[in-house]
Amino acid sequence: MENMLSAKGLCKTYVVNKYSNNVLRNIDFELAEGEFVTIMGPSGSGKSTLLYTISGMDQATAGDITFLGKSYAGMKDREMAKLRLVSMGFIFQQMYMMRKLCILDNIILPGYHAGLEERKKVREDAEVLMRRLGIIEIADNRITEVSGGQLQRACLCRALINRPKVLFADEPTGALNSKAAGEVMQELVKVNRDGTAILMVTHSARVAAASDKVVYLMDGHIEGEITLGKLADEADLTQRERQLNKWLMDQGW
Ligand SMILES: Nc1ncnc2c1ncn2[C@@H]1O[C@H](COP(=O)(O)OP(=O)(O)O)[C@@H](O)[C@H]1O
Ligand SMILES: [Mg+2]
Repeated sequence: MENMLSAKGLCKTYVVNKYSNNVLRNIDFELAEGEFVTIMGPSGSGKSTLLYTISGMDQATAGDITFLGKSYAGMKDREMAKLRLVSMGFIFQQMYMMRKLCILDNIILPGYHAGLEERKKVREDAEVLMRRLGIIEIADNRITEVSGGQLQRACLCRALINRPKVLFADEPTGALNSKAAGEVMQELVKVNRDGTAILMVTHSARVAAASDKVVYLMDGHIEGEITLGKLADEADLTQRERQLNKWLMDQGW
């Protein structure tokens, strides 16, 4: 697998009231094409900050990040925004969708915005995605008229509308019950099987067990990593979760 996204010597310092907080300390990280990597670690260890800097949503204090062979350094804001819109997808714990639009229109919006396809095609793609994720029946609903699990799957559809090379997911199941979390996780596995790389943050060993590799972040640096390889089946998941839990205990989880 070829490296698609890479960070070298990545540092992020927040200065609040003249006090410097070194949130990321000299991180080297690589994500290969089609790879599914999970970041775990205690609250405040810098997981979200790592996700935001590596996706170009937030600027690093030091270090170099390259995506598809192009360095973020010197990239104009507009260029970065376009790159994110076209090549990256995002889902978060608390999802933000437009209240005044129905679910289908929310999913379509970034597709229209990117303008890569004709509007009719974007609409068709959105419907295909909704069918695939089993939520076509909520196409005309408002966001207040669906369950948390349905909304998160809708957010996943929206994140995938421009066929991104990589999906960033910050605690995508954090607000869901375990059944809905399991369903969203299964969808992520499918998305990854279809070729989209995923960089995810989660607190759940069960959810993390679906990924190829887990890195453990502690006080802003990578303490360890474990390679699980591609998930075979549901039974495999239980065994991997056990393996991961043991490893996490060793990391001081
Ligand atoms: N915008 C910000 N300004 C100042 N400090 C921040 C900001 N975002 C995060 N931090 C600090 O960075 C540290 C890591 O935060 P975060 O990346 O959200 O951790 P995690 O996702 O692992 O819980 C925390 O100490 C947090 O207070
Ligand atoms: Mg976080």
